[in-house]
Amino acid sequence: MSSIILLRGRTLSFLRWPESIDDHAAWRYEEDGGLLIRDGRIIAAGAYAQVEKQAGEGVEKIDHRPHLLLPGFIDAHGHFPQMQVIASYGAELLDWLNKYTFPEETKFANAQHGRRIARLFLNEMVRHGTTTVAAYCSVHKASAEAFFAESHDRNMLNIAGKVMMDRNAPDGVLDTPQSGYDDSKALIAEWHGKGRQHYAITPRFAITSSPEQLEMAGALCREHPDLHMQTHLSENHAEIAFTQELYPWSRDYTDVYEHYGLLGKRSLFGHCIHLSEREADALSGSGSVAVFCPTSNLFLGSGLFDYQRYRTRDKALRIAAATDVGGGTNYSMLRTMDEGYKVIALNGEKLNPFQSFWQLTRGNAEALSVAEKVGTLDEGTDADIVVLDANATPAMRLRMETVGSLAEELFLLQTLGDDRTVREVYVAGRPAKRDMAA
Ligand code: GUN
Ligand code: ZN
Repeated sequence: MSSIILLRGRTLSFLRWPESIDDHAAWRYEEDGGLLIRDGRIIAAGAYAQVEKQAGEGVEKIDHRPHLLLPGFIDAHGHFPQMQVIASYGAELLDWLNKYTFPEETKFANAQHGRRIARLFLNEMVRHGTTTVAAYCSVHKASAEAFFAESHDRNMLNIAGKVMMDRNAPDGVLDTPQSGYDDSKALIAEWHGKGRQHYAITPRFAITSSPEQLEMAGALCREHPDLHMQTHLSENHAEIAFTQELYPWSRDYTDVYEHYGLLGKRSLFGHCIHLSEREADALSGSGSVAVFCPTSNLFLGSGLFDYQRYRTRDKALRIAAATDVGGGTNYSMLRTMDEGYKVIALNGEKLNPFQSFWQLTRGNAEALSVAEKVGTLDEGTDADIVVLDANATPAMRLRMETVGSLAEELFLLQTLGDDRTVREVYVAGRPAKRDMAA
């Protein structure tokens, strides 16, 4: 039997990058909007009065006025096995990995532990309004199985992969070039394209992969050109120096990945903070994506991602934004863009609120090459939707008394908002936050 619901609220969805806060043609906003959803897809969107006419009799109506309905947020980079790493004190990247992260990830050899944490991780995503995440699992095949099983059960569109890492870490989190390849291959066969699941080939970074392993990762990319590839790049100076020692022939850090055929339109590079012009050109030329992780970059003292320079340079970079939990310090993409705004401000630039919300939705969907399915409220796309309340807390309510425009309301949501701001979340048309509370 087909299920059909009609949502009512203030709908906002982007058509392209908003050049300024007056660039109204870049978004579609309906003060009294309607979204008609059948079997998990948006089949009509627009003014409520129009959409209601198409709905017919007996449709379940859910009135979210005066709240905002936006496409569910997209998080382009996070580590599900790091939920118990968040808030680990006082280390920069390489020490943080050795002291906290690698030991924690050894626990994911246990499938039950993986399933429990995958469940709690996706709960947090949904509670914070995120309906799609590009996730790193641990090195263990079982951790990716746990993540995909949990994601599939919820009918979420997620991208994930088993981390490949065969050196410079404790034995409990190492694979080998062959086992990393074989496990990835088996996971691709089992999960990629099952329901809404996407597999990402996931060599952790150059330091923890031998040349043989990066070779194997490149082979996987050639064998599966429709898959994502995700890794870390140019996050921290000590990391860059160590990579240069390990790959002495390379022109720079990016060249290592380039050499093994890992650049491309579906390649997601976390951090990209300290890139040379040559590296930025190489990423741009290949259509690779630089993933901005502001809370993580500040927390680990890694540096300031130069968003506006990358975006506006002659050979522009494709950019996504992400939490990078558990180097990142919050599950919320609102908190993430608030910190992102500050990082961009430290670089002498500003990101206006429409640009921020574009990034969280359509921008990240385009960067992840999934905009045909998610990231907008367009007819024919999947009904992944977040309901936002700018009056969610006393402090927000008070500030709302002086807010006079949609731009100001969005900026307030970003600056003071968090999970309390998220009133409901629809995953493929199902009210997922309410269901979770039940
Ligand atoms: N580089 C390699 N692994 C990681 C990780 O888990 N987190 C972050 N922030 N950087 C990394
Ligand atoms: Zn990361």
